[in-house]
Amino acid sequence: MKDLIRELIQQALVRLVDDGVLPSGLDVAIQVEHARDKSHGDFASNIAMMLAKPAGSKPRDLAEKLRDALPANPQLSKVEIAGPGFLNFYQDHQALARRLDAALDDVRLGVHRDRAPQRVVIDLSSPNLAKEMHVGHLRSTIIGDAVARVLEYLGDTVIRQNHVGDWGTQFGMLLAYLQEQPETGETGLSDLEGFYRAAKQRFDASTEFAARARALVVKLQAGDPDCLALWRRFNSISLAHCQQAYDRLNVKLSAADVKGESAYNGDLANVVADLDKAGLLVESQGAQCVFLDEFKNAEGNPLPVIVQKAGGGYLYASTDLAAVRYRSRVLHADRALYFVDQRQALHFQQVFEVARRAGFVHEGMQLEHMGFGTMNGADGKPFKTRDGGTVKLIDLLDEAEARAYTLVREKNPELAEDELRTIARVVGIGSVKYADLSKHRSSDYSFNFEQMLSFEGNTAPYLLYASTRVTSIFRKLGQSADALPGAIRIDAPQEQELASKLAQFAEVLVGVGDKGTPHMLCAYLYELAGLFSSFYEHCPVLSAADETTRQSRLRLSALTGRTLTLGLQLLGLETLERM
Ligand code: ARG
Repeated sequence: MKDLIRELIQQALVRLVDDGVLPSGLDVAIQVEHARDKSHGDFASNIAMMLAKPAGSKPRDLAEKLRDALPANPQLSKVEIAGPGFLNFYQDHQALARRLDAALDDVRLGVHRDRAPQRVVIDLSSPNLAKEMHVGHLRSTIIGDAVARVLEYLGDTVIRQNHVGDWGTQFGMLLAYLQEQPETGETGLSDLEGFYRAAKQRFDASTEFAARARALVVKLQAGDPDCLALWRRFNSISLAHCQQAYDRLNVKLSAADVKGESAYNGDLANVVADLDKAGLLVESQGAQCVFLDEFKNAEGNPLPVIVQKAGGGYLYASTDLAAVRYRSRVLHADRALYFVDQRQALHFQQVFEVARRAGFVHEGMQLEHMGFGTMNGADGKPFKTRDGGTVKLIDLLDEAEARAYTLVREKNPELAEDELRTIARVVGIGSVKYADLSKHRSSDYSFNFEQMLSFEGNTAPYLLYASTRVTSIFRKLGQSADALPGAIRIDAPQEQELASKLAQFAEVLVGVGDKGTPHMLCAYLYELAGLFSSFYEHCPVLSAADETTRQSRLRLSALTGRTLTLGLQLLGLETLERM
């Protein structure tokens, strides 16, 4: 609808330019917003206020002229002028009802995108394999997964890239330790964190061990087969740990999506050579650097992007340059989205800029760092265990499920044990994910079990419950929500509110895909659930006065149910039939 209204305004502007009311060559972004208060229509635009000055007329006068110049459209019942010169648009209820009917009878729920599908690389999760995956990688994993699902639903081809840290000096230490204990198997490494700590202790305590560790890194990087075999064994165990977390989190990631730092190892020398050919390389204190004017340190001196250390070693940035080039040239991405901690913002600005200057990525390719803030504890400080250690993801998920189990059992003591467990899992995991997804990704947030497991407010339990409530209407009725007869009619104000919210679903998904912001979908579903509640309270469904009304309300309920379920699934939550 917003697009349609923008298009109509655009046509009106052209007419006014032709009539000499407006000067030609105006370049203005037409803003159309949902009206906050339904008594002011459904959509509003401030275009007349924006253009009054260049047109040399009063905003309200210009608004009048614009309204007269607007082409008629069956989706709109009327356009009014309000306040200092707002244009208020009223949706035609009949046309709205027909759109919703069509959405309900459409397997895609009326979500169709008019632009051509894109190839989108999503860089997500990307833990460091030397250690156990911890909460810091939770945000990247679940926000990235939600955006990937939304873009896929919108028709794009999504290529997930799990850029795991599987290369680097810490592997020498781990290999040396593994070598000392050849019998260490899957179980010995089940506690990766403990293994890392033990190796580090040996490293710090013994100079002989440390020397061996350093020699092993050199051998590993030179491609020594024994070292490589050991390294592969270590990584496969560590990746199996990650996969367990992904599966539990209901995140669509598999071994096929792993493209770790080591995968680019053979290309790093070429990256440096090609930067040199492009005339971008400068030697500084023995290191190979690229200097970009736009990046300066606090003293105003240019900040180098180091791509090769004096000793010949490569860095995080070198690998990212190889990766972005691969994403352009081999994966043919139109967009690459990086879901990585906000604290790496400068790194990505630099990598993107160097990649563009060096011609590593094609002209039209969009590169976007989708940064996110820190997950803090309830005290607002970085999330830590009681003794100050990093919190393991698996422990966090265990606790969420245990708490959900207690809650659900309190509410439904009569449920059978296995159903209780299923509900506890879906609610527990869903709560952790939803709490994260529902905040704007760029802000820090405090992890709080009580809040995320509450049945009130913008939470997973509330929304999961709301979606089961709709299912229960049809269960009571003994009727399937598919192939419902009749047609939607919009009369009561609660029906109007619900209907216009339902009609916004596609637009919300497009926004999430463009901006990489799942919280917009969370907010939408929360509002939708609230509107459904008041609709259900004020507009009897099963006991409606007549059959036409009953059919209409059942159809509205079914569409709400399907929208809630699909929305939650696109966020990566499992849904329930009842809870
Ligand atoms: N492994 C890195 C870390 O834990 C994140 C990698 C993000 N992706 C990338 N292409 N740099 O900090």
